[in-house]
Amino acid sequence: MINRDGNTFFLSTKKSTLILRINEVGKPICEYYGHRVPSTTPEAAFTKPEMMMGRSVAYDKTKSEQICLNDLALEISTPLKGDTHAPSLILRSEDSVVFDFTFAEAQIGEAKLMEGYPTPRGASEELVLALEDKALLAKAELHYVVYEEEDVIGRYVVIENGNDKSFDIEKAMSMQLVLEDKGFELVSHYSNWTGEFSVEQQPLFHNRIEFGSNTGSSGDDHNPFFYLKAKGCSLHHGEVYGFNLIYSGNHLEQIEKDNYGKVRILQGISPLNFRKTLAKGEKFITPMAVMTYSEEGLNGMAHQFHDFVNGHVIPEEFSYVTRPICYNNWEATYAKFNEGKIHALIKKAEKMGIELFVLDDGWFGHRDDDKSSLGDYNVYKKKLPHEISGLSAYVHKHNMKFGLWFEPEAISVDSDLFRAHPEYVMRDKLHNPSEGRNQLLLDLTNPEVREYLFKQLKSTIGPAQIDYIKWDYNRIFSDVPADNGTYMHDYILGLYDLLNKVRAEFPNLMMENCASGGGRNDLGMFSYFCQGWVSDDTDSYERGKIQTAMAMGYPQSVLSNHVSAKTNHQLLRKTSLGTKFDVASIGVLGYELDITKLDPIDEREIKNQITYYKENRYLFQFGRFDLLQELEEGALIYQVSDGKNAEVVYMNNLQTTHSGIETLVPVNLDSSLTYNYKVRHEEIDFKRFGSLINQVTPIHLKEEGKLVNFISRRWGYGTEKFEGEISGDMLLGGALKLPRQWAGTGMNEYTRIILDFGARIYRISPTK
Ligand code: DGJ
Repeated sequence: MINRDGNTFFLSTKKSTLILRINEVGKPICEYYGHRVPSTTPEAAFTKPEMMMGRSVAYDKTKSEQICLNDLALEISTPLKGDTHAPSLILRSEDSVVFDFTFAEAQIGEAKLMEGYPTPRGASEELVLALEDKALLAKAELHYVVYEEEDVIGRYVVIENGNDKSFDIEKAMSMQLVLEDKGFELVSHYSNWTGEFSVEQQPLFHNRIEFGSNTGSSGDDHNPFFYLKAKGCSLHHGEVYGFNLIYSGNHLEQIEKDNYGKVRILQGISPLNFRKTLAKGEKFITPMAVMTYSEEGLNGMAHQFHDFVNGHVIPEEFSYVTRPICYNNWEATYAKFNEGKIHALIKKAEKMGIELFVLDDGWFGHRDDDKSSLGDYNVYKKKLPHEISGLSAYVHKHNMKFGLWFEPEAISVDSDLFRAHPEYVMRDKLHNPSEGRNQLLLDLTNPEVREYLFKQLKSTIGPAQIDYIKWDYNRIFSDVPADNGTYMHDYILGLYDLLNKVRAEFPNLMMENCASGGGRNDLGMFSYFCQGWVSDDTDSYERGKIQTAMAMGYPQSVLSNHVSAKTNHQLLRKTSLGTKFDVASIGVLGYELDITKLDPIDEREIKNQITYYKENRYLFQFGRFDLLQELEEGALIYQVSDGKNAEVVYMNNLQTTHSGIETLVPVNLDSSLTYNYKVRHEEIDFKRFGSLINQVTPIHLKEEGKLVNFISRRWGYGTEKFEGEISGDMLLGGALKLPRQWAGTGMNEYTRIILDFGARIYRISPTK
């Protein structure tokens, strides 16, 4: 809801209010952003024109002798009129670098579609504050888009030139917000290949913190999702402000605490390698940034962002639609496969209950490794003599959906496409372009290239009746041409244009976003893709950390998680398949190990997992996500729930012999009900007991001997006993004790043999 009272604007969501005011000198300022308040602000809340501080300059003495821009919670800032903090806008014309925008008019109405960008649908209302610099005939519109139910406010800026002379935009942030410091700590996420969403928490000092990405895509270096925790904010309580950007390219975040304790937050396109010239009548629109306020701790923020993404960002066709369980052949075969092997995997996948079979990289051109053929999406006949349509029919005959891997934006030098169209490549005119993973990028700013790609995708997806594509993207930008100051940005708009075409042509095609894992998992991409491959790191311990950090800003319905081989390929760490499933379950489940070579014990385990997941799929994908305990406290614990049922994942850190008594304290359940609690059953490998096994066997067994191996491939030791009934109030009060972990002595049927990095999943459901 947006209300206006003179020069004051109240933007209210279900639980928050943002109050903006046009102040005495015509500058929009933020007077309040916090829990919901009535739309009648007492003047007491208004920033008073204070005394001029020290050596500062009075902005406009004719209106007020006491207003200096440096001191204000400005909603937009340009340099050289008294504001010395990081500006949100830097413009430069032949005549001036002082662009001084003041209020002209305001409009409240329906939210508009943003030209060139994905726009989250279903906004409640939009406020536009139009500002102008009369001397330079420049305009800036501040857009505030309210998503009332989800407590999210979108922000973007439109800059327009009304002057005969052009001007340059050197920096244009989507959002500027200034808050009084509430003892904030900044939580951001640095990333690299297999290390996505590494959490960094830091206090704010009196300086500026900057982070972002300049690689051409959003998720490298830092994801655009970050938050500011007020003092005292915990998982379930306290104030937090969350931010994200609906954009897939370079971005910059700046957090500056000024010398008087105000905190300025800026987010938008990175100004590095960016310069836009606006001729008369031209406009530049920034992407939309989004912010949310919660006083229910980090989980409160996560719920709001989840509802927003599930309800407004994800393509409507997939909004709250459950995703199938997938099998992907990548880690099972890499590019070394033939039709026989793929058919064997397909048959086995069907038997195990898989619903979607995805053929990954290596099916086209003459691609046996990553050195060739990107760009030539004609089938590699030696591997797949019956073409993609033959394979698709085979998968459909086995009652699964069929998915195929593409990397549309890339090109191998060894490809027919490169030989025919070297001009399609992203490069400058003077240097040989640098390769990344033996490939170059295509110039998506060129409409001809986009048309070519669209036709190629269309001619494969349509005739072969493909249900799903995995859209990969495996390198960063380089060799960007110099003749266009916004090339990196135009590339992203070109990508959105191509994605719009694909979605319009195939609205029911499921698309998974991938960039060597999570190199481009952002709200721009999730406007087209219903899920994203979280990381190429499929080790469960690492994945547990990555997934839960990502889940604070992105719903589990977009987290594509696969169970991979016990000996993980990225770290060579060995973990049970049970643990791998437990960690992967909260999200969209998949498998990518060689299922044709499973031991009987593992086959049984996977079948049980699939049944377990199907029984509660909606909860896993769309239930309310809550982080219950962080890993530093000994175990990572998180849950999904619907108010009555919960699935709780417990992932151990390092085991100790003195772990003490641990309790399981779920949230979001009904205290008036009685509950069943039950650990998911899995079989523990006998070999984990080493030579200790001889303490219970009548004959002596050699630790790695043939007999032990024979047994352990078939049978395991059952999960500890943990099943029973408890009243809802005791459960929520923290009375449910977990069995003790293995500690060297006194083992019985209750002993929890979870070991280093092991996991469990607990089902909690009402007795009736
Ligand atoms: C990187 C992806 O993240 C992997 O899952 C796989 O699809 C490979 N690319 C294929 O080249």
